[in-house]
Amino acid sequence: MVKAIRVHETGGPEVLRLEDYDPGKPGAGEVLVEQKAIGLNFIDIYFRTGLYSAKTPFIPGGEGAGVVLDVGEGVRDFKPGDRVAYCINSGAYAEQRLAPADRLVRIPEGIPYEQAAGMMLKGMTAWYLLRRTYPVKPGDVILYHAAAGGVGLILGQWAKHLGAKVIGTAGSPEKVELAKAHGFDHVIDYRKQDFVSEVREITGGRMCDVVYDSVGKDTFPASLDCLRPLGTFASFGQSSGSVPPFNIGLLAQKGSLFATRPTLFSYIAERRELDTAAEELFSVVESGAVKIMVNQSYPLADVAKAHEDLEGRRTTGTTVLIP
Ligand SMILES: NC(=O)c1ccc[n+]([C@@H]2O[C@H](COP(=O)([O-])OP(=O)(O)OC[C@H]3O[C@@H](n4cnc5c(N)ncnc54)[C@H](OP(=O)(O)O)[C@@H]3O)[C@@H](O)[C@H]2O)c1
Repeated sequence: MVKAIRVHETGGPEVLRLEDYDPGKPGAGEVLVEQKAIGLNFIDIYFRTGLYSAKTPFIPGGEGAGVVLDVGEGVRDFKPGDRVAYCINSGAYAEQRLAPADRLVRIPEGIPYEQAAGMMLKGMTAWYLLRRTYPVKPGDVILYHAAAGGVGLILGQWAKHLGAKVIGTAGSPEKVELAKAHGFDHVIDYRKQDFVSEVREITGGRMCDVVYDSVGKDTFPASLDCLRPLGTFASFGQSSGSVPPFNIGLLAQKGSLFATRPTLFSYIAERRELDTAAEELFSVVESGAVKIMVNQSYPLADVAKAHEDLEGRRTTGTTVLIP
């Protein structure tokens, strides 16, 4: 038996229960991983509250890193002792877990477990937003909300590396400064300033080629007003609540805009794309262009406190849970 966090009914942080758990032996195509670090994500909150549905009881957690303990029949790419990381819908909040071998990637030697655990879901999200949803070119102007967050600090540095002019928003003066130190050229405190007029001033009225918006309710529809004609609105989360239903004619009125609601799992469903995402991510981290800021670490048993802090806007960068 090992320890794991299980959710039996959805609700507040108190539904995250530490329990004994038997991960079982790896079946065909599976790998048993001893987890060294687990990444915390806002998506974990959506599953815990029931906004995203999962069959109960379930073990939450979408990213982690560890060492291979055992492999099942037919697994040829991994062996006991290998350092691996993954981004999988659930099951990460545990000391040990089974994982399908075709969803694991090898961690390069220079990258510690904490960073690997905290960068898979968030870093591959930054990858698909910048390289697939709206492929950013040198000179593009981009806006990213919640710039000091987990995805935010990675995306800001990566967008800068790609040659974009990077504008962010953040919810306190400290967060504004942190985002400025991680790729963002301009950061607007959107709790104090009107971000649409600030973007207009920063861009000299040109506005942005793309807005990556994971805040949702509170920044909609103002985010659309930050786009130039034919710009792209990528709505990829709802930290403040869901974007309300809207008339698609709004996109015509605001300049023939493109709007998409992407999720990482569609972009990495094919193994080839998972490999590309991981390679590009590890490459920008190993080159030093993107630094993974593990700014909070909690014992796995204190996961409820970690959820409260993430929901309460008290975290910055990446947060990990240590089993
Ligand atoms: N679709 C996908 O594929 C995908 C993948 C990964 C993540 N996501 C989404 O991306 C977002 C960022 O994820 P993350 O794990 O890196 O989280 P995060 O950005 O570290 O945390 C969320 C941030 O949102 C901001 N926020 C604004 N209004 C808020 C409110 N009412 N309550 C709480 N936070 C609020 C806060 O920053 P300020 O204080 O600066 O406002 C907070 O720190 C989440 O919405 C997540 O669901 C989507």
